Amino acid sequence: MTRRITLALTGASGAPYALRLLECLVQADYQVFVLASSAARVVLKTEQGIDWPASPQALSQQLCADYGAREGQIVACGKEEWFSPVASGSAAPKQMVICPCSMGAVSAIAHGASDNLIERAADVVIKERGQLILVPRESPFSPIHLENMLSLSRIGVTIMPAAPGFYHQPQSVGDLVDFMVARILDHLGIEHQLMQRWGYQKQ
Ligand SMILES: Cc1cc2nc3c(=O)[nH]c(=O)nc-3n(C[C@H](O)[C@H](O)[C@H](O)COP(=O)(O)O)c2cc1C
Repeated sequence: MTRRITLALTGASGAPYALRLLECLVQADYQVFVLASSAARVVLKTEQGIDWPASPQALSQQLCADYGAREGQIVACGKEEWFSPVASGSAAPKQMVICPCSMGAVSAIAHGASDNLIERAADVVIKERGQLILVPRESPFSPIHLENMLSLSRIGVTIMPAAPGFYHQPQSVGDLVDFMVARILDHLGIEHQLMQRWGYQKQ
């Protein structure tokens, strides 16, 4: 059976992490449900010059073509598509990553708002005791941000800030992106060769 995962993009800086993660998930033969907030689309355009089509069907087709995915392997969902599998505990993938994750999304999820499909999908993963990984980005964090992240961490949500290390001697922005994506894949239990592991580097 194909493994399934939900990947949500929200309006924090860091679109390259999401695109690289999507590529890796497709290569790992996951079926990926892709959700993007309106702000995420603005960030994608600003950071990557990419304009995703508004229609979920058109976006699904485009992403499948862009990432060499099988038909139906990438399923884009609209922000109020309440009949999507990700909206119900009876059908949602047990794993979800929000990358990048805005402080607004952190707050909404910490308070159970469920006001759009991203918030609802996260709420479902939490209630079903699945694996939810947030990749927040902001600097500095305010006490509100920190308290919201702490309450999520306390109930088992993984808070993995977009904070790449430099000890693998990155030569490019791509190396920094891969650092973060490698750590996300590690937590999802997906094999990868994106970077050398600590203790195995050339000295
Ligand atoms: C180019 C750009 C970069 C942004 N970077 C961040 C960021 O790093 N962190 C953050 O929390 N919000 C950031 N924002 C603001 C969020 O996009 C904004 O709060 C938005 O309402 C979040 O909505 P969403 O959670 O539905 O995606 C950024 C906005 C833009 C346009």
